[in-house]
Amino acid sequence: MTHFLDIHTTDQDDLRQIIDNAHAMKTARAGRPKGTPDDDQPLAGHIVALIFEKPSTRTRVSFDVGVRQLGGQTMVLSGSDMQLGHGETIADTARVLSRYVDLIMIRTFEEATLLEMAEHATVPVINGLTNRTHPCQIMADVMTFEEHRGPIKGKKVVWSGDGNNVFASFAHAAKQFEFDLVFTGPEPLDPERALDGLYTTERDPHKAVEGADLVVTDTWVSMHDPQSARERRHNQLRGYQVNSDLMSKAKEDSLFMHCLPAHRDDEATSEIMDGPHSVIFDEAENRLHAQKAVMRWCLGV
Ligand code: CP
Ligand code: NVA
Repeated sequence: MTHFLDIHTTDQDDLRQIIDNAHAMKTARAGRPKGTPDDDQPLAGHIVALIFEKPSTRTRVSFDVGVRQLGGQTMVLSGSDMQLGHGETIADTARVLSRYVDLIMIRTFEEATLLEMAEHATVPVINGLTNRTHPCQIMADVMTFEEHRGPIKGKKVVWSGDGNNVFASFAHAAKQFEFDLVFTGPEPLDPERALDGLYTTERDPHKAVEGADLVVTDTWVSMHDPQSARERRHNQLRGYQVNSDLMSKAKEDSLFMHCLPAHRDDEATSEIMDGPHSVIFDEAENRLHAQKAVMRWCLGV
């Protein structure tokens, strides 16, 4: 079974093939209305379940539109409306869904839920974000960087802020796509120890971004974080805001990314988000193209 669970557990050559295929599919349908199907219909006759246990705008819409462009059908399910949210085991849910659908995408809390789904499903499972990782996002981010600046290999990427789930997938990607990743943030919000060795740390954000080809940030409070931590996190992270002063220390042609949703003027100023370095809406668009390539890879079509 070809699941897409994480970037570090996916073969390096397969990751490259997915990115290249995403670029090719994007180019092939450029300028068409979004509802127009792709010329080839590799998902014809296939149905995909999209399960959400957390809110989503980009992941929900990009997967749904992507499946339709590939000629397949979708079913969007909210975790709380399923028996999954009322005591049915993940294993049984996986076994049952596998009898109805050809592919499962799940956004959930605990990574264990995703892994249990993958273990018991007899169809491919895609990670649509867990508390620990967000691999589909980083596939779109690598695609976006390369679209603007060419190969990401050997480039300097700086993450400023919380060492969260999106950072973790960047760390996995740094190894697989061979770029240098620097984390800058306060010690209490350091990335988890399992990522040691995949990145370097520089506490001073101004030093960290020197020579950066790409500066990235994300929300200071993730969906799985307790809202009670909000004020403390804001105090810890204020100095790591991506603003014009910080961005001016990076390379002149550096890019700025944010997976969105953003809290404007917290983790990044609107000036940066809407400014010349920013490629945030290309990133959002490329979720569509990258995930179409991921789904094709999972299904071998
Ligand atoms: N970036 C991202 O995954 O956005 P959504 O939470 O809107 O899906
Ligand atoms: N780190 C954020 C990413 C949202 C796409 C979260 O998990 O809420």
